[in-house]
Amino acid sequence: MHKFFANSLFLGKKVEILPHCHSTNEVAVEMLVHEKLPEGTIIITEDQTKGKGQRGNQWESEPGKNLTFSLVLYPKSLSIKDQFYLNMITSLGICSALRNFLSSGIKVKWPNDVYVNNRKICGILVENALKGSTIEQTVIGIGLNVNQTEFIVEKATSMADLTLMNYDLNEVFDKVVQSIEKYYLQLKHSELKSIRQDYLDNLYWMNELHVFDSNGVFSGQIVDIDENGKLVVESNNERAAYDIREISFIK
Ligand code: BTN
Repeated sequence: MHKFFANSLFLGKKVEILPHCHSTNEVAVEMLVHEKLPEGTIIITEDQTKGKGQRGNQWESEPGKNLTFSLVLYPKSLSIKDQFYLNMITSLGICSALRNFLSSGIKVKWPNDVYVNNRKICGILVENALKGSTIEQTVIGIGLNVNQTEFIVEKATSMADLTLMNYDLNEVFDKVVQSIEKYYLQLKHSELKSIRQDYLDNLYWMNELHVFDSNGVFSGQIVDIDENGKLVVESNNERAAYDIREISFIK
């Protein structure tokens, strides 16, 4: 059993370690019904049996090999229209943490997957509870592939798969937590412009010609994200914004 200690200001100061659970996001949401957890609380498990992915998918992770955890935040000063910044800071935090271990090719695939050399290394699931015009609470689930080397999903990879080395999960956890905290503090200080620019600078396929599918395949290039976090793609000199259900990346 690992100890999972985060060398940070407030993120991960309280860590609930579960030997196994169905989904750390679900556990966090259930706990929040009964108690007000301190901001930065992390629920982590070594064996997640029914991990939730985006769009109703399941997140598969081999027990004991990867990081599967959720963090609890109360981004009270962030308006609902800016909620995509939570996705941005999390994926940027993961990219920056990974740069301590991997040399190159680390990108954010919109909206918030982390890719290394065209393969997915990390999935993020942000679940916001809204109240009136504010975000009451956020549970951010992170599945980072660290030491797993065999995958059912074809496009998946891990740190070990890429480097043929094994990593200390606690060391990776510590870097990830510190790094997300750094970006969350930028968000708390309303540094929205620089977060957005950082996100665009790290975006997979940004300003490159590729093939997409949105009710039919077409060539175009990602040129921006709009104010709601939609992906802006330019094709034949026309720009259109897509949400996650409206576009897929082909090649
Ligand atoms: C994706 O589909 O890419 C998002 C995957 C998110 C997986 C993580 S693992 C920890 C947390 N708990 C869950 O049930 N899901 C997230």
